[in-house]
Amino acid sequence: MQGIDRIIVCPSQSQFPNELSQILHTLTIAKKIHFYKEVGSTQDLAISIVKKKFEDTHGTVIIAERQKNGKGRIDRKWISPKGGVWLSVILKPKIKAAQATLLPIVAALAVCDTINQKTRLNSKIKWPNDIVIEGKKVSGTLVDISIDSKNIDYAVLGIGINANVDVTNIKRYIDTNSRKRALEMTSLKKELSGKKVNIIDLSRILLEKLEYYYLQLEKHYSKRIIQKCRQRSETLNNLVVVEQQNESFECKAIDIDSDGALIVKKSDNNILRIVVGDALVRRK
Ligand code: BTN
Repeated sequence: MQGIDRIIVCPSQSQFPNELSQILHTLTIAKKIHFYKEVGSTQDLAISIVKKKFEDTHGTVIIAERQKNGKGRIDRKWISPKGGVWLSVILKPKIKAAQATLLPIVAALAVCDTINQKTRLNSKIKWPNDIVIEGKKVSGTLVDISIDSKNIDYAVLGIGINANVDVTNIKRYIDTNSRKRALEMTSLKKELSGKKVNIIDLSRILLEKLEYYYLQLEKHYSKRIIQKCRQRSETLNNLVVVEQQNESFECKAIDIDSDGALIVKKSDNNILRIVVGDALVRRK
């Protein structure tokens, strides 16, 4: 046991949460670990746990070996077979509601650092929440936030990493509308020419990085977070297509501002601020 006594909830015989707990160096994140062989969605489960309000859930992590009904952003499905990292982290953030827009960046940076440290692959952040390797999506993050007047009641950071997932199999399950998206997916195993990644260690690094960046946010070091995000961005300085309210236009991504919004320059030199959730942005 490292540092703190963790509570483990694991209805199956799996050794995963114990092994993870033994190597994990976090103080808040993963104080309590729920581990399941199969759930509908760790995100749904985490939200239902935090809504019950009967215990201190700050830092609780829900991990599943596979998800039957994994959720992506914008009501998309997230295919989650065994071999991936599928987890949701509950936070009761001590930050102002206005800073909630930085939580997706915290999640994306943690994933990006984790992949790069564990595999030496060069993953980058495709604004706002995708993690890509040479343009192909290897991970996605989803943040559900509940705001109570000016305070954040809770935030649930959902993270999926296609670690040892066979991406060709994913294509078989995906519906026609999502086919284009499936073709752009990759996994760590695929990028490492078939070599598997230890997902317990990958999860450990991820939870440690999440704690690190979350504490930076709590300590008001948001400038550092944004600067790191700019360095890791694969969107900045590139031509992108923005799809917003029935219009679509090409522009150049020129900055990420202090709230995590994307600043773009149109061909008529007009500068626009694109807020997460208001538009879809893809590389030209
Ligand atoms: C996206 O790119 O659209 C976001 C994908 C987020 C997937 C993760 S896997 C763990 C957590 N549980 C879910 O149901 N979704 C998130």
